[in-house]
Amino acid sequence: MANLHTNFIGIQSPNPFWLASAPPTDKAYNVNRAFEAGWGGVVWKTLGEAGPPVVNVNGPRYGALMTNDRRMMGFNNIELITDRDLELNLKEIREVKRNWQDRAMIVSLMVPCEEQSWKNILARLVDTGADGIELNFGCPHGMSERGMGAAVGQVPEYIEMVTAWCKQYSKLPVIVKLTPNITDIRKPAQAAKRGGADAVSLINTINSIMGVDPYTLTMSPSTGGKGSHGGYCGPAVKPIALNMVAEIARDPATAGLPISGIGGIGNWRDALDFIALGSGTVQVCTAAMVYGFKIVQEMSDGLSNYMDEMGFKSVSEIVGKAVPTVSDWRYLNLNHISKAVINQDSCIQCGRCHIACEDTSHQAITNMKDGKRFFEVKEDECVGCNLCVTVCPVPECISLRDLVPGETDQRTGKTVSAVHADWTTHPNNPMSAKAA
Ligand SMILES: Cc1cc2nc3c(=O)[nH]c(=O)nc-3n(C[C@H](O)[C@H](O)[C@H](O)COP(=O)(O)O)c2cc1C
Ligand code: SF4
Ligand code: SF4
Repeated sequence: MANLHTNFIGIQSPNPFWLASAPPTDKAYNVNRAFEAGWGGVVWKTLGEAGPPVVNVNGPRYGALMTNDRRMMGFNNIELITDRDLELNLKEIREVKRNWQDRAMIVSLMVPCEEQSWKNILARLVDTGADGIELNFGCPHGMSERGMGAAVGQVPEYIEMVTAWCKQYSKLPVIVKLTPNITDIRKPAQAAKRGGADAVSLINTINSIMGVDPYTLTMSPSTGGKGSHGGYCGPAVKPIALNMVAEIARDPATAGLPISGIGGIGNWRDALDFIALGSGTVQVCTAAMVYGFKIVQEMSDGLSNYMDEMGFKSVSEIVGKAVPTVSDWRYLNLNHISKAVINQDSCIQCGRCHIACEDTSHQAITNMKDGKRFFEVKEDECVGCNLCVTVCPVPECISLRDLVPGETDQRTGKTVSAVHADWTTHPNNPMSAKAA
């Protein structure tokens, strides 16, 4: 079995799988059970200032987007930071870390955007044995109305300032947790780096409303007839998170800044996507809440088997491996030609590919031959868009074939060229070098 041990900004953990700051990590009972199940680390549920804790609503704080077969695709919450006493949390963090020396214990923090508040809370962590801190600049509901969470994460200058305070007043490694509720994720990441952050983690949740009850015409879920926007997470947000992780990994200003990837991770394949796009560790919340802590066993076994199969000796060898393959549209090769191919042996003749292509793409799939149902790609119409591949219910029944240089594209009558040609040089581009 491959060794999954991870050294992330000096924080050691037996595997890269951490629980994200959220209900799974809000007390010793949960975290002990998580460590027993095999999680490599936790980010403790966000702590706030000393004094009376925040108060959560006593109505539904969660909502969900389900598939027709009741699988959870998206999850929404309006929970605040920890509503337990600071002293109790600190005592439990200390005890749990003492009993689980080999696991990563990160403490998430969110206090008002004032130097003294950060100085005070950082001082309270000194004797807990925590391995690092994560600055929660991400939660988009409740706390942001009080000038914390996403309200800080949306202003790069605040991120830089608070990060610098944390580096000044604490010796612990600082991970800055970013909000996705922003247009260009590179800006807050750059600010975190300027402030001295050791790493960034992302994503926190996305602002969202789950729906409306059709009979009361009330926002749903609601507490006493009213609801509030909440944070969206779970499998549905994974592509958004992956893009943001890759953006930071390939931005020259932040390239090499360690990343802890979060958002919709539920199995080892999800984790691998994040790792290959630049994440040194991954964090999980929704999947643990829906399926329980034991999902980490599939994650560990799956990643380990994959590494054995591929000959990887350590997780760090995979980190960022796919980043060079992420580009901008303008650099994609316009001379590359693909065509869809239907495997007649596995086709069940459902007709979905035909109707999708006929109604909304390029009318490139037949539905009849000699009076019988028959689905075949017309190469002289196909543009290789991949729509039929995505709608076909039979895995791998439709695939895309790349034409080789020298072959003729039946659609255009042109010979496929081996030369790379992208939009930056295309004659139709008024800004291209050739056109100028
Ligand atoms: C119920 C709930 C509570 C959360 N509380 C916090 C929190 O206190 N601090 C924080 O940084 N993130 C919090 N999050 C966000 C998660 O840590 C994580 O960033 C997000 O859920 C995306 O990961 P996922 O798709 O695996 O759930 C919370 C998420 C949920 C669902
Ligand atoms: S790849 Fe696109 S254009 Fe080609 S057959 Fe499929 S749906 Fe039609
Ligand atoms: S969608 Fe797939 S299974 Fe259905 S007709 Fe097309 S190729 Fe066959």
